[in-house]
Amino acid sequence: MNVDGVPWRTIWPAANGRDVEVIDQTLLPHALKVQTLRGLDDAVRAIATMIVRGAPLIGATAGWGMALAMQDDPSDAHLIAAGAALVAARPTAVNLAWAVARQTAVLAPLPPSERAAAARAEAAAIVEEDVAWCAAIGRHGAAALKAHARADRPLQILTHCNAGWLAAVDHGTALSPVYALHDAGVPVHVWVDETRPRNQGASLTAWELARHGVPHTLIADNVGGHLMRIGRIDACIVGSDRVAANGDVCNKIGTYLKALAAADCGVPFYAALPASTIDFDLASGDLIPIEERDAGELLTMTGRDGEGVVRTVAIAPHDTPGANFAFDVTPARLVTAIITERGVCAASAAGLAGLYGRTA
Ligand code: MRU
Repeated sequence: MNVDGVPWRTIWPAANGRDVEVIDQTLLPHALKVQTLRGLDDAVRAIATMIVRGAPLIGATAGWGMALAMQDDPSDAHLIAAGAALVAARPTAVNLAWAVARQTAVLAPLPPSERAAAARAEAAAIVEEDVAWCAAIGRHGAAALKAHARADRPLQILTHCNAGWLAAVDHGTALSPVYALHDAGVPVHVWVDETRPRNQGASLTAWELARHGVPHTLIADNVGGHLMRIGRIDACIVGSDRVAANGDVCNKIGTYLKALAAADCGVPFYAALPASTIDFDLASGDLIPIEERDAGELLTMTGRDGEGVVRTVAIAPHDTPGANFAFDVTPARLVTAIITERGVCAASAAGLAGLYGRTA
């Protein structure tokens, strides 16, 4: 998507033909800077510290992480160790394990001498597939969202966390339909949840919508229920880190509360995600591992002060403990439909089976 008219992606091979470059998302919205990943350790660190984040981008980075690992040491032992290190970097987004399994299936049968080139080719394929899938989600989702538009105002969309192009390679998942509608001239306005504690809404969703010129408004995390109850939201759309085979949707903490409010208010609630986010090995969302991150993320806030300096400040008593659950599960019964690259389906085992021919 565009940053002030210039097209960007979140990850790409470096010009030296060896390294990989990514946007450092820990610095946004205050600075747009690129980090170079030179080896497996850099890829693992980028995922664990959220230099890259968002399920599809975590998968793409894992794909390239395997390629970086094979360039340094293509042995069987390192192939296994690299996959394990990447999978351990974050637990919830299944795209990570999906990309490692895909690379392992390609690389394991090959002689070590052929693995580096094959891993680079597969990483590039994962990236291009993600771009195509997210574009298709945009087409299917735009049609679904447009059905909820009213004649008297721009389409009013609520989203949580960041599921835009920064969370994928390009286009995004939940925001891909929004970009498709906006680019087609359909008036649309996005209500952006700030998404404590890492503030992906405030720092990433707001930034990318602003840079692409999409009308939006930032709201505190607890405002969505009020807006839905007074009729100011036409539809909610979120991404996902893992969808279980029964259609339960795991996403950024707070998503479940938005889905509850949407159900109570009769507002449609969509989850948009590529095939790489569906975990047919898990029968129910109850089985999805929920990441718990350092409580320091909750007990502090980071932002730019009046002098333009980015600072982190404490917001709680120094001796108050915090618990930082990063994701929650929205039961399928609260999800109006799931939007994937293959189309729109019911959030159920039958719905997913209809699109993918698979069940748990
Ligand atoms: O902790 P994050 O920033 O990696 O969490 C990201 C989300 O929860 C996104 O909403 C989700 O990955 C969907 S991404 C297209």
